[in-house]
Amino acid sequence: MRVVVAGTGYVGLITGVVLAYIGNKVTCIDVDSNKIDLLNNGQSPIYEKDLDKYLSLARDNLSFTTDNNCYANSDVIIIGVGTPERKDGSANLDYVYNVCDNIVKYANKDVVVVIKSTVPIGTNDDVLEYLSSKRSDINITVASNPEFLAQGTAIHDTLYASRIIVGAEDDKTFDIMRKLYEPLTKDPYNVPYLEMDRRSAEMVKYASNDFLALKISYINEIANLCSKVGANIDDVTKGMSYDKRIGSLFLKPGIGYGGSCFPKDTKALHWLSKINDCELKLVKDCIEINKKQKLVLLDKLREYFKSLKDLKVTILGLAFKPMTDDLREAPSLVNIDMLLDYNANVTVYDPIATSRVEKIYGDKIKYAKTIDDAIMNSDAVLIMTEWQEIKEYNVDNYVKYMNNGKAKVYDGRNCYDPKIMKEKGIYYYSIGR
Ligand SMILES: NC(=O)c1ccc[n+]([C@@H]2O[C@H](COP(=O)([O-])OP(=O)(O)OC[C@H]3O[C@@H](n4cnc5c(N)ncnc54)[C@H](O)[C@@H]3O)[C@@H](O)[C@H]2O)c1
Repeated sequence: MRVVVAGTGYVGLITGVVLAYIGNKVTCIDVDSNKIDLLNNGQSPIYEKDLDKYLSLARDNLSFTTDNNCYANSDVIIIGVGTPERKDGSANLDYVYNVCDNIVKYANKDVVVVIKSTVPIGTNDDVLEYLSSKRSDINITVASNPEFLAQGTAIHDTLYASRIIVGAEDDKTFDIMRKLYEPLTKDPYNVPYLEMDRRSAEMVKYASNDFLALKISYINEIANLCSKVGANIDDVTKGMSYDKRIGSLFLKPGIGYGGSCFPKDTKALHWLSKINDCELKLVKDCIEINKKQKLVLLDKLREYFKSLKDLKVTILGLAFKPMTDDLREAPSLVNIDMLLDYNANVTVYDPIATSRVEKIYGDKIKYAKTIDDAIMNSDAVLIMTEWQEIKEYNVDNYVKYMNNGKAKVYDGRNCYDPKIMKEKGIYYYSIGR
């Protein structure tokens, strides 16, 4: 099939590469010419495990362009552009409609427009009405096909997806979507394939993401209470996880979720529930809890040091989670902002996201190339991302390199064993232990 994917971000690019890999002729279009130039030079604009390998494997079926003429002659157009939050929490659909305007202008035959971006319930219907009102000469149908990949494992999550959800309202569109994804529903991938109406498909995405965000916020609150009452969250979550109804995933406490999805998707669903006079109060609380959770280490730091002025603080881990260079809604950024407000001296380290942070803060903070350099003479370390390198770091070095051997480590991701840290004489604060 001839497929166009609009948007070469984390979702669009991975989708394009995988669809090309399984045999479709795919053109990926983006308005960002820098990204397209990189891709045309065989380089990936994002850090994602195995992406380079699959870019090369799919090369013969894959092209990259900024030219809207690509929308002509396509069987399927997949919209994977961003849907960031607006100030009121609602999803900004401008990018989706920009693509629609280009489809209106350039499509020249019947086509299925697939919305993969996360969009509020009813958007697919609105998009269909919009496109049909402008192009009655061709048959445009719309399918909802939400994405569930996680950054860091995006290629694997697409090839071996937990499920493919397709929402449509007519047999022909369902047929085309089935054909598009057929290889992934067979050996060796065997991805479960579910069909439903468009609004339900849109809701699956929000309901899933918000459920996961709730699970994280719940366990963070339990962890905070563990700290107060002398229980250990590690044992608590272990004990909980033996109940199959609860499971062990997303039961790890920390300094809050970030990334491009949970923060905006909780806000968007809450906004949608409010305007439909059916406010989701659990989701509202979840948003608040997460906002507070991002600052628990800083609260603890201030409790100890009182003034943070001129304090040398090191942040280890900048990306919102390991295995990605994405900084969107990363707890590290809120903490850097606050530390600068308190006039602390901030040094940061991340295995791959440092250059992105440098673009934001310039010379307001220092950038280290190794963990050793980052913690040298530091008064306190705040761990924000559980990179393997940080988890495997020789903790003796905290004593060796930090200010006068008085190591203070505030660990927002529970990377180390508190008993070992105590034995080493390190002041160690982690979440719920
Ligand atoms: N990132 C994730 O892990 C993830 C997972 C599931 C769903 N989603 C959803 O998928 C959507 C995309 O997310 P993302 O993280 O890939 O976003 P992103 O910001 O990484 O990428 C979006 C891309 O779209 C491009 N773009 C904007 N307008 C365009 C236009 N008119 N034509 C062509 N390209 C255009 C941008 O230049 C950018 O490269 C969002 O709705 C998001 O909620 C994201």
